[in-house]
Amino acid sequence: MSQVRSIAVIGAGTMGSGIALTAATATAAGSRGGIKVFQIDVSAEQLQRARTYHEKTLKRNVEKSRMTQAQAEEAMALVSYHSDLAEAADADWAVEAVMEDIDLKKAVFGKMQATFRPDVVLATNTSSISITELAAAVGADAPRVVGMHFFNPVPVMKLVEVIKGRQTSEETTRRTIELAKLMGKSPVPANDRPGFVSNRVLMPLINEAFYAWAEGVAEPRHIDEIMTLGCNFPMGPLRLADYIGLDVCVMILNVMREGFGNDKYAPCPKLVELVEQGRLGDKSGSGVYEYPPRS
Ligand code: 3HC
Repeated sequence: MSQVRSIAVIGAGTMGSGIALTAATATAAGSRGGIKVFQIDVSAEQLQRARTYHEKTLKRNVEKSRMTQAQAEEAMALVSYHSDLAEAADADWAVEAVMEDIDLKKAVFGKMQATFRPDVVLATNTSSISITELAAAVGADAPRVVGMHFFNPVPVMKLVEVIKGRQTSEETTRRTIELAKLMGKSPVPANDRPGFVSNRVLMPLINEAFYAWAEGVAEPRHIDEIMTLGCNFPMGPLRLADYIGLDVCVMILNVMREGFGNDKYAPCPKLVELVEQGRLGDKSGSGVYEYPPRS
């Protein structure tokens, strides 16, 4: 299989719905024909949320003259919504973006292996789970397992960190880079070490911002202002932590702490305390900052 004409995106949460939209939008009205996207989720509610997000974002793109009405309609027509993976069995590519739970992801990989043709790449959008460990769930098919680490918000962020597991084949890596480019992204390869590159560098920075707050060096908004105005960050590290999810930050830091056996990655107690209080960031309405309820 050389050309990818359709992809299955398993999981319709923030990342999965963003990946689906990006694939459809980038290839709509292209000379080679658009990529058909199967958006899969076991939850009908989640699928409906994804569809609404797709419609809203495309409408906004037309209003902002980023695309024509015809392109938006073509992009929308490329996406279909399914609760049953078997309905996507003809897809040429599979990428999962389900919750960051290793057992769940392994189970999904088992289903992907059983559903798709043997030449289909089995990709995972994970922020921290070992690609090599996930690949072990599909035994002899490990060479076609790869990490496609997208960044939130997926339609905006250019990077796809392409993570090579220990057994990922060169062919799989090459094809992943090719597909990410087709999706309008800038793929960059990295090896399968805890946190890969992005989170290994980003998370200690976020953690340090929590220590600066906890030690009274400055209040949160000043820490963020210092980093936005002084380092040109689009969001300060504490605002970004809320945006990512404070629970996700804790989880990634713990993966690195355990993976490297190094306490320098231990999450700051202030960060852990907020998570224990249920203050998870934007998604829970409060974190470092307070957020108005989502419409
Ligand atoms: N979907 C689609 N488009 C979106 C979007 C979304 N969820 N969120 C924002 N946008 C687009 C909008 O189209 C908007 O443009 P428009 O007003 O012309 O339509 C444009 O982005 C700018 O958005 P806003 O005006 O709402 O706000 P900002 O200018 O502050 O930009 C931001 C928002 C793009 C999120 C910017 O603040 C930013 O780049 N922040 C940093 C994000 C970041 O670092 N992400 C990576 C997180 S780490 C990660 O994901 C890895 C994981 O493993 C932890």
